[in-house]
Amino acid sequence: MKRYTHVKILLAAGLLCLTLGGCATPRETLYDALGGSAGIDQITRALIVQIGNAPDIRPFFEETDLERFQSKLNEQLCQVSGGPCDYTGDPMDKVHAGMDITEANFNRLVELLIDAMDETGIPHPIQNQLLARLAPLRAEML
Ligand code: HEM
Repeated sequence: MKRYTHVKILLAAGLLCLTLGGCATPRETLYDALGGSAGIDQITRALIVQIGNAPDIRPFFEETDLERFQSKLNEQLCQVSGGPCDYTGDPMDKVHAGMDITEANFNRLVELLIDAMDETGIPHPIQNQLLARLAPLRAEML
């Protein structure tokens, strides 16, 4: 009889663990939630298509080497989401200096990033976590 009580307690503890989001497993990073390297690559690919279809943002990228842009953005998103990467691109203030980026331009690019994440199936709470980590960069660009 006592043995069964123990089993019940273990089951209850197990259930609690599951409900609270897993006890023994290591915490998933934002990088993992974005689908790791392949997930981020899909997002930036979709973003570049979105940029190409946005008449207000496309002109900024007219002279840009899009392959480099995508690879540096992949590194940056990997790094800010806690993935195993170091950003090797140029500093954000230098890259965007002289482009006269307005608040509206910035917000529009964020919208395109959200569209790209919607397209690749990233849940909204995860999207918000990434956007929150990118928000501090805003001051370096405007
Ligand atoms: C959170 C917002 C943003 C992030 C994280 C971001 C990130 C980046 C990164 C990583 C690069 C590549 C740097 C390199 O080549 O070393 C880049 C380049 C670039 N970004 Fe942004 N960016 C943001 C906002 C914007 C906005 C709002 C605009 C304009 C509307 C913009 C326009 C550009 C352009 C045109 C380039 C290419 C520059 C070139 O051709 O060398 N970015 N950005």
